Amino acid sequence: MTIERVGVIGAGQMGNGIAHVCALAGYDVVLNDVNGDALTAAVELIGRNMDRQVAREKISQEDRDAAMARISTTGTLADLGQADLVIEAATEREAVKDAIFAELVPHLKPETILTSNTSSISITRLASKTDRPEKFMGFHFMNPVPVMSLVELIRGIATDEETFKACQDVVERLDKTAATAEDFPAFIVNRILMPMINEAVYVLYEGVGNVKSIDKAMKLGTNHPMGPLELADFIGLDTCLAIMNVLHDGLADTKYRPCPLLTKYVEAGWLGRKAGRGFYDYR
Ligand code: CAA
Repeated sequence: MTIERVGVIGAGQMGNGIAHVCALAGYDVVLNDVNGDALTAAVELIGRNMDRQVAREKISQEDRDAAMARISTTGTLADLGQADLVIEAATEREAVKDAIFAELVPHLKPETILTSNTSSISITRLASKTDRPEKFMGFHFMNPVPVMSLVELIRGIATDEETFKACQDVVERLDKTAATAEDFPAFIVNRILMPMINEAVYVLYEGVGNVKSIDKAMKLGTNHPMGPLELADFIGLDTCLAIMNVLHDGLADTKYRPCPLLTKYVEAGWLGRKAGRGFYDYR
């Protein structure tokens, strides 16, 4: 099937980045969020991020203006009814995603592909509660979406080949690269990344190193662009903890035990950059 219109659900960090790259690739984008202020803020942020790309001569002013004109916003899920592809990037809570899909599905065309940007929730389980498990899959972008070249494509147990191929084509048109993962807890990227971040928190917790020395060691010692604690703050400590819990519950192995210090920071509301405080102070 030809995909021309993309519905994006959730105007947060990931959703606005997804709308940004889809619009630049020439798709008509309908961005949905329950919060009208979040929609306004997302469109402003997309505009600023595209201005930055114009200033660095990554895109032309004409490309920027045409892409911005392709983005419309709505607070109503029914307005995604004409989408050929829907990418859900709402809050990382299964009950929230289930409720969104339940409300959305009756408005969709039968051929519409439904995907989730979930970083760790089972695609098979999310799909099983919709009317189209064979047309459902994981479409996992990395943050910041306009900069990171990977999309992890995750097949649920029932995903059909036509759906997978259509999503592969979208990734190509976005000028990104796909890595295919089977549907097991946290897929590939977070299965490997989160235990590393969790281990960095253990290193801090046990007093092996302080925040600065841990990040310096990993940045300069392994050429990572960010140290693991800086990266955890960037991703959000609540997200990191949620993913560790998915790994711990789903794989039943103590090696995925979340560090008690990570739990304590989340309980304190020190969630990283978005909260102004995490392992670093951004205030
Ligand atoms: N939109 C558009 N462009 C952006 C942008 C945005 N939101 N954010 C950054 N950029 C661009 C900048 O304009 C700049 O462009 P040029 O190369 O043309 O100059 C480039 O990105 C680099 O940005 P900066 O100079 O501001 O900063 P930097 O060099 O320190 O890089 C970074 C910032 C790209 C975030 C880099 O630190 C990095 O790659 N960090 C690691 C990110 C990472 O690991 N992400 C994955 C997280 S895991 C995940 O997302 C999965 C999950 O489910 C949790």
